[in-house]
Amino acid sequence: MTNLMTRTSPLLAAFLGLSLGMSIHAAIAQDGHGHEQELPPVQKWSFSGPFGTFDRAQLQRGFQIYKEVCSACHGLDLLSYRNLTQTGGPQFPEAQAKAIAAEFKVADKDDKGEPVMRPAELKDRFANPFPNKKLAEDTYGKVPPDLSVMAKARTSPRGFPLFVFDAVTGRNIETGPDYLYGLLVGYADAPAGSEPPQGSYFNKYFPGNNIAMPNMLAADGQVTYQDGTPATIENYARDVTAFLMWAAEPKLEERKRIGFQAIIFLVIFAGLLYFTKKKVWSDLPH
Ligand code: HEC
Repeated sequence: MTNLMTRTSPLLAAFLGLSLGMSIHAAIAQDGHGHEQELPPVQKWSFSGPFGTFDRAQLQRGFQIYKEVCSACHGLDLLSYRNLTQTGGPQFPEAQAKAIAAEFKVADKDDKGEPVMRPAELKDRFANPFPNKKLAEDTYGKVPPDLSVMAKARTSPRGFPLFVFDAVTGRNIETGPDYLYGLLVGYADAPAGSEPPQGSYFNKYFPGNNIAMPNMLAADGQVTYQDGTPATIENYARDVTAFLMWAAEPKLEERKRIGFQAIIFLVIFAGLLYFTKKKVWSDLPH
């Protein structure tokens, strides 16, 4: 009996730990109003996994969505127009990136030191839609946050025990994009009795459900793609999310490549060490 107890108790402990973790998770997932805060569904991304890379065409479409829709309210202060041409990103040809930049106006000084607005150049940071936060807040009730690192600043924790696996497999960096995608397609009619206050909109995945951002990707066909990709809300949301992931981590591909090379190096090095050890100790009797 004692034998059985000692053999089963680690299992029992693991089971208890698991259920405790799950109930804590369920408790956290309740929002202030007492109904469940839905977790955004898990998506499949081209940049998943140790060998994942960005899809250039998708990044270019995602930039188009940012430019035509999101840039009316959100800045990307950490990006310069030149970044659009760089390896590992959307890789627009230089002439095209110059033309894109020239569509935006940035503040500068003229020869007399007077402030002027001039067309942006490759060297300039992305133009911000608002001269200051106050104006943005007065217009929309909340400041539309800068999107430069948004894909990394948000997560959708899947709770115990999945987050342990997510950390090991590297999937945890994709919970930010899952959330962004969910947020963009997550507008719905509010359940009866929890109508959002004036100036807010019901969103299934926004914490607390009431968001000051209107549904900006509201109709298929709202943006026209040049490459034949179906112009659907889901594609808009997926593409702009991939673009924002690149914006937040422009060196993602390089990081994965170097990581892989380091692993190969370590494997070869371990082999060499093994043979060295055998040689060094070879003339000692066992
Ligand atoms: C009409 C203005 C407007 C447009 C256009 C707009 N947003 Fe927003 N956005 C806002 C405001 C305002 C907030 C702040 C909402 C809040 O905190 O309640 C916000 C918040 C966000 C957030 C942060 C949500 C969070 O978890 O805090 C993300 C991400 C976002 N927007 C993405 C986008 C994307 C992507 C687009 C383009 C498809 C876009 N927005 C277009 C006004 C806008």
